Amino acid sequence: MDAMEVMGRRHSVRAYIDSPLEGAALDGLRSAMEAANAAGGLTMELILDDGSAFDSMLGRYGKFSGVRNLVVVKGPKSRGLRGRAGYWGERLVLDATELGLGTCWVAGTYSKKGIRVGPGEELVCVITVGRAERPGKPHASKPMGKFIAGRGGDHPSWFISGVEAAMLAPTAMNQQKFAFARSGDVVDARVSGPGFYADLDLGIAACHFELGAGAGNFAWKESPAG
Ligand SMILES: Cc1cc2nc3c(=O)[nH]c(=O)nc-3n(C[C@H](O)[C@H](O)[C@H](O)COP(=O)(O)O)c2cc1C
Repeated sequence: MDAMEVMGRRHSVRAYIDSPLEGAALDGLRSAMEAANAAGGLTMELILDDGSAFDSMLGRYGKFSGVRNLVVVKGPKSRGLRGRAGYWGERLVLDATELGLGTCWVAGTYSKKGIRVGPGEELVCVITVGRAERPGKPHASKPMGKFIAGRGGDHPSWFISGVEAAMLAPTAMNQQKFAFARSGDVVDARVSGPGFYADLDLGIAACHFELGAGAGNFAWKESPAG
């Protein structure tokens, strides 16, 4: 499937069919996770058949149902962890989408109580994964101009495709606070405002931008992928 098509198909899924993940979908998810961990220096783990993190009041507040499987997004404590987690976690989300699975990034509305991380590791967030009972739907988006920083002018088509792809990216509370500035073929990804979610959102948006623009067409000023 074309990357743009996969990004267009991905929407947050919060209602899952309460059935185990198995067969080709599980194998595909595992190998995509291993590849993302290796490339991003992460230690993401799959929790299967245990939706207890969503049985709490917080999970219900987030309107999740039938959650049985999670990816725990985590890695060694380090500078840039959240950006890398966003970038490589979203690669995994898109691979899961291609495998026919629904996903949702969740940083707030779950219980962290039963989730373990190793010594020196930091828990970033989780991603729910499974067969969708109710498909998600496209999010409302700010207009394209809001995502282009710096001087205006004629941008090459790869840059516009990158921005279009980023507009499809999930962001915490659909805030979409990221923007891209271009100087020749060097792109600077920026996010307004500090905070826990900002770097994660930027990594996710950068992943989409790169897939939309084509990695060979530009260089990052500072790569969010690590
Ligand atoms: C970093 C991050 C954290 C999120 N945390 C939550 C959450 O705690 N609860 C929830 O229901 N959705 C959460 N979401 C999902 C967003 O609400 C969703 O991505 C956004 O509204 C856009 O919708 P879409 O993913 O369907 O395109 C999170 C998304 C991201 C990227």
